[in-house]
Amino acid sequence: MNIVLGITGGIAAYKAPDLVRRLRERGGDVQIVMTTSAEEFVTGTALQAVSGRPIRSNLWDKEAEAAMSHIELARWADVVLIAPATAEVMARIVSGGAPDLLTTICLATEAPIAVAPAMNHVMWNNPATQANRRVLEERGVHILGPGVGSQACGETGAGRMIEPDAIATAVFDLGTSKGEGLLAGKKVVITAGPTREPIDPVRYISNRSSGKMGYAMARAAIAQEADVVLISGPVNLPEPAGVEVHSVLSAQDMYEATHDAIEDADIFISAAAVADYRPADVKAQKIKKNDESMSIELVRCPDILASVAALDTGPFTVGFAAETEKVDDYARSKLEKKKLDMIIANRVGDDCGFDTDDNSVNVFWTDGERRFPTARKSELARNLIELVAQRFYAARGTDTQPRLTVVSNIE
Ligand code: CTP
Repeated sequence: MNIVLGITGGIAAYKAPDLVRRLRERGGDVQIVMTTSAEEFVTGTALQAVSGRPIRSNLWDKEAEAAMSHIELARWADVVLIAPATAEVMARIVSGGAPDLLTTICLATEAPIAVAPAMNHVMWNNPATQANRRVLEERGVHILGPGVGSQACGETGAGRMIEPDAIATAVFDLGTSKGEGLLAGKKVVITAGPTREPIDPVRYISNRSSGKMGYAMARAAIAQEADVVLISGPVNLPEPAGVEVHSVLSAQDMYEATHDAIEDADIFISAAAVADYRPADVKAQKIKKNDESMSIELVRCPDILASVAALDTGPFTVGFAAETEKVDDYARSKLEKKKLDMIIANRVGDDCGFDTDDNSVNVFWTDGERRFPTARKSELARNLIELVAQRFYAARGTDTQPRLTVVSNIE
């Protein structure tokens, strides 16, 4: 795997030689690109010795550019990894600015980008950094860590760069070498977000789903080279790159779009919060209030997940269960009742689940289970997609047993 390793100016840059060694041990060909501030923390001589390649740092270095231009470097990369990544480099990538060689490569590459943030915990928690982190995730940049613990500044909190070994493992698990993604050649259909069930021309019944988990699953499936069709209810999220998105509003629309897409699908992941009921009668004109109480008659919406699971030669089917209590019990009974291959259960309430960036889930299948501690939805989705792939191949009787690596945000 060809890895462009960007090193930026954080104290964790002293771990860079160890990171290079671990990437090379796994078969990586590492080209280091340092920023000027990184040179304050680690010497190019040490890095050149461990990487076995001349260090690149200056966009205007005529000799180096003649040997391999920044555009060639951007094309050469199977992955661009930035470790440590400062708040500054994250902000630069978000803005699309390209003042130096590293950010120019980020702008010019089509390879996946992974960043391992390293900074003081107050800087990490600053709303500006968190907003940048969210934008990067939404654009499909893989955020590795950071870890929680004591920091070089003497304080404690989230912001430490995760260990070089965990970074190297995560980079090789991105499934980036063409044709080697866990889901290469497989079609994955995913539903996400809420549905809206109209009452009259101006009102509807809906729920608090943000769609973040389903969108994160779509990005994680793309990273494993699946062909992804995302059937999305109304959400406020950018379309993930490389995904075929169908936007729908009601449960009935979502049902139809799903069945249109499902015929040749290998895996169906039902992450949408589909309404169970809709108004029996949608009024053509806005309902006017009066002094009486009012009631709306509701009828059942189609159960999309159960209908896909009931298909004779249907795909490997994965449901979600969002519960406020007895999470495991309710999830297991849904697994059985809807005849699913797998169910991913999480607790929802005022403080967790909906419209948050974090989640923790328990996954069940007929003869097994796995529990994932609280992590960002993007990280969780990566691990869930690996598990889905593993169970999919096991169910189809093939030998492929992908490794399962949890990139924890807690050291
Ligand atoms: N689902 C679906 N179509 C529906 C309702 C739910 O496809 N009409 C899917 C969801 O995408 C999710 C799973 O079914 O994967 C959730 O199961 P469900 O039993 O419907 O959950 P709840 O609606 O929370 O059910 P209950 O009210 O019984 O807890």
